[in-house]
Amino acid sequence: MIIGIPKEIKNNEYRVAMTPSGTKTLVNNGHLVYIQAGAGVQSGFNDEEYLEQGAQILPTIEAVYGRAQLIVKVKEPIAQEYALIKEDQVVFTFFHFASSETLTRAMIESGAVCIAYETVETAEHQLPLLIPMSEVAGRLGLQEGMMHLEKHRGGKGILLGGVPGVKPAKVLVLGAGIAGTAAAKTAAGIGADVCLCDISLPRLTYLDDIMPKNIKTLMSNEYNIRRELPDTDLVVGAVLLPGRKAPKLITRDMLSLMQPGSVLVDISIDQGGCFETSRPSTHENPTYLVDEVIHYAVANIPGAVAMTSTKALTNATMPYVLQLANQGWIEACRQNAALRAGLNIVHSKVTHQGVAESFGLEFREWPF
Ligand SMILES: NC(=O)c1ccc[n+]([C@@H]2O[C@H](COP(=O)([O-])OP(=O)(O)OC[C@H]3O[C@@H](n4cnc5c(N)ncnc54)[C@H](O)[C@@H]3O)[C@@H](O)[C@H]2O)c1
Repeated sequence: MIIGIPKEIKNNEYRVAMTPSGTKTLVNNGHLVYIQAGAGVQSGFNDEEYLEQGAQILPTIEAVYGRAQLIVKVKEPIAQEYALIKEDQVVFTFFHFASSETLTRAMIESGAVCIAYETVETAEHQLPLLIPMSEVAGRLGLQEGMMHLEKHRGGKGILLGGVPGVKPAKVLVLGAGIAGTAAAKTAAGIGADVCLCDISLPRLTYLDDIMPKNIKTLMSNEYNIRRELPDTDLVVGAVLLPGRKAPKLITRDMLSLMQPGSVLVDISIDQGGCFETSRPSTHENPTYLVDEVIHYAVANIPGAVAMTSTKALTNATMPYVLQLANQGWIEACRQNAALRAGLNIVHSKVTHQGVAESFGLEFREWPF
């Protein structure tokens, strides 16, 4: 199969959909891999490394889309790419269709087969292509929050791990899933006093068994959160109710319980945010103040560490890319139910219930 890897052109996106090692795997399986010139540079891979692993370099995005049967990307296509996507082309990437009717209609019009990373789902209800990005966002979200506790950044001026004779900072993590657990582990490793909250008692029971002693677990409810806030220095919000908006766990009136210069990090911002006062921020302007509390709500946290994120994402996507390339999308989706769940639009028909419902479009179950 002919596989194309375009350079990401969305603002502030530095990841690339394939590493040189992934290229080698595909080439060894008899496939032809086209990489757009410079596509991997921001992730630490130059064109020569791809060439060494058997890829061919094409100079423009038009050339890549023009030749490939399977396009593998990171972010959803943006307007400039719509016209490049052709009927009978398979596009495998993050789409987040439900958040853009324009993109949905453009892909319907293209006639292409759109397989969305974010809806690939295993029998255990895990989202294997979202997990690596939550792992990154949890760790980096915690690091960013910790930095903003520094005085010159507007924070209260407290060292997360403390020093001998001085207590460490207190971190409250809301949501003990992938991102929340990653944030809690990072904070605990630095020596903070961590409280990890969730609504799932089995999850808290499990984590209580395996986590270090400076992580305490707590049932998530308004009463408990209100009692924790007065002496919490840093809150990390990482809750998820799949397919729904995040619940608002800290309302504006609750900010007055916190000390000035405390920090809120809202990782759930891509689902609307779990603090009432959250609004999306960017890597250029990551924070803003509400009632003297610092808010950090960057919607694409992993983009800041493209070298790590590219490797983490491609570790997860490669088995699916290989199956799509080896078997073709029809056979691959027949055999692999997780991949089948990723089918969002097939030849102008919406094959994902959530996407169809979002825009009042007809839902068609695949195979037709
Ligand atoms: N901002 C970014 O760059 C970025 C990157 C990756 C992921 N995310 C987002 O981070 C969020 C978390 O992702 P994840 O992979 O860790 O999800 P996850 O499903 O692994 O974990 C979510 C957890 O939230 C818990 N939860 C639900 N309601 C709760 C409540 N009221 N109180 C406390 N806990 C509650 C669930 O029980 C679950 O354990 C998602 O919204 C995801 O899209 C954001």
